[in-house]
Amino acid sequence: MKNKITVSAPGKLMLLGEHAVVYDHPCLVTAVDQRMKATVTLLDSFDLEIEAPDVKVVGYKKPMVELSMGDIPKGAQFVEIAVRNLLESDSGKTRIMNGEIHGIRIETSSEFSSLFGFGSSSASTVCVIKALSELLDLRLNNKAIFQLAYQTVLDIQGKGSGFDVAAAIYGGTLYFVTGGKVIEPLDMKSLPILVGYSGIKADTVILINQVAKKAKKYPDVVEGIYGIIEQLVERAKVAILEKDWQTAGELMNLNQGLLESLGVSTDKLSQMIYGVREGGAFGAKLSGAGGGDCIVAFSPEDKREEIKKNIEKAGGQVLDIDSNVEGVRVEE
Ligand code: MEV
Repeated sequence: MKNKITVSAPGKLMLLGEHAVVYDHPCLVTAVDQRMKATVTLLDSFDLEIEAPDVKVVGYKKPMVELSMGDIPKGAQFVEIAVRNLLESDSGKTRIMNGEIHGIRIETSSEFSSLFGFGSSSASTVCVIKALSELLDLRLNNKAIFQLAYQTVLDIQGKGSGFDVAAAIYGGTLYFVTGGKVIEPLDMKSLPILVGYSGIKADTVILINQVAKKAKKYPDVVEGIYGIIEQLVERAKVAILEKDWQTAGELMNLNQGLLESLGVSTDKLSQMIYGVREGGAFGAKLSGAGGGDCIVAFSPEDKREEIKKNIEKAGGQVLDIDSNVEGVRVEE
């Protein structure tokens, strides 16, 4: 049996539908070519070891019997809880009883900063579950990997739709409904996207709670907004499949207006978005929870340079990324 494997998974970028997707509505998400990598080794010793220098976890080691107990450093939480969830699953338990698993060493590294909001925690969770599935010959399919990884996200964050986990597993561009009720890959080649980073790290859980507070005070209004966001997502799905970027861009603009009304945009994001639109983009909006992170735009080829300048003028950083890339894969 192989005792070491390296697996990689892509980051994600929300195209349309954030926040509404937490509450049983669809979204559109694309996988980006900035990947998270995990090398997993089965050890003879009975320890869990994690090295994740990108998130300040160095030399972390504990006995396997203490898995998921005590204080876990923030950067190690997703990886450690992913290991626990896999080992507590039916197939994982059998392997423990057969004495096939003693200890596990996990080393992660990322091609992107965890500040961008590309979903580094979800991507590393997916990498670890896929790697252990391969090493222990558990033959987990994508749906089973999704369930374990989504459970891990919920165990730690309490909230979330799982769209980031799906993007890391399936790759491509997905039409996704809360909790993986629908995971539909869109048959398309590429998206004319441009991405700008605001320089501010957003806290997804805080923003979800902020919107939940609004929904508690104005339940009908906020549910109405989610309903319109759903319509925008449905139309954008068709527009994207037809490569009608003008319409897809206009739908992004409408989605941004609704995110503004939910209170999750910021001055900086709005300035970047207006700059991008003035530069000739088909449309632009914030991407993800809001409060910071990135904006995403659809842009005509001949306007890209102008738009990039405008992102910088508004104090943002252009991120050169490709979208619609391959999902989780074994590297070596
Ligand atoms: C955060 O990137 C997007 C949200 O919709 C949360 C989620 O879907 O898990 C706000």
